[in-house]
Amino acid sequence: MLTDSAYELLRQLASPVVAVTSSLQGSPNGMILDSAVRASISPQVPRLSVYVHKWHLSHEYIWKTGRYGLHLLHRKQFDLVYQLGFFSGRDRDKMAEVPHRYGATGIPVLPECYAAFECRVVNAMDAGASTLFLADVIETSKGPGNDIMTADYFRANLPEKWREAFAKNYRDAQERIAANATVRSNPWPGPASPP
Ligand SMILES: Cc1cc2nc3c(=O)[nH]c(=O)nc-3n(C[C@H](O)[C@H](O)[C@H](O)COP(=O)(O)O)c2cc1C
Repeated sequence: MLTDSAYELLRQLASPVVAVTSSLQGSPNGMILDSAVRASISPQVPRLSVYVHKWHLSHEYIWKTGRYGLHLLHRKQFDLVYQLGFFSGRDRDKMAEVPHRYGATGIPVLPECYAAFECRVVNAMDAGASTLFLADVIETSKGPGNDIMTADYFRANLPEKWREAFAKNYRDAQERIAANATVRSNPWPGPASPP
């Protein structure tokens, strides 16, 4: 991966490591991200946002359905990070081995995670290589675990056997981001398909 002193400071803004699920016409998928933000301080308006790179299968599913599930992980879930965050759902059925149920919203929910938020997109913003999906939280559930997987915990404890692949994926993503940095006007038209 590429880094410099400014980027090392920016990295301090990474969110906890979370799993984001989505589904298109009954086909489930999941990914990992560390770009989740609480987007409201009112319990009457529970809201959050995520940045998803445009080339991910998850991006297509979320864009088309306007739905996603966001899951805080507990610290024993490195296997889940590897299953969902190192390969694309375009190349394998990643959810086949991941226990899940469908929430009332039609979103895949991972009951083994620390917490699950079922979300409905209310707006999206073009961010160059990624899209910011702002969403209302429709349902929340608590799973097992006491401590969440923070970005710092992830970096310090990622098993050695996965570090090289993680660095390569990171570098590849950095190149794609640099090549597609221009922000365009691309209004989200709203959901076009059920999850
Ligand atoms: C720790 C970690 C953090 C990540 N953060 C992001 C992120 O913030 N945004 C993003 O689009 N991808 C992020 N990724 C990459 C995706 O999870 C990964 O490329 C995934 O395979 C995409 O799957 P999909 O094509 O099935 O949607 C991250 C991966 C890891 C392991």
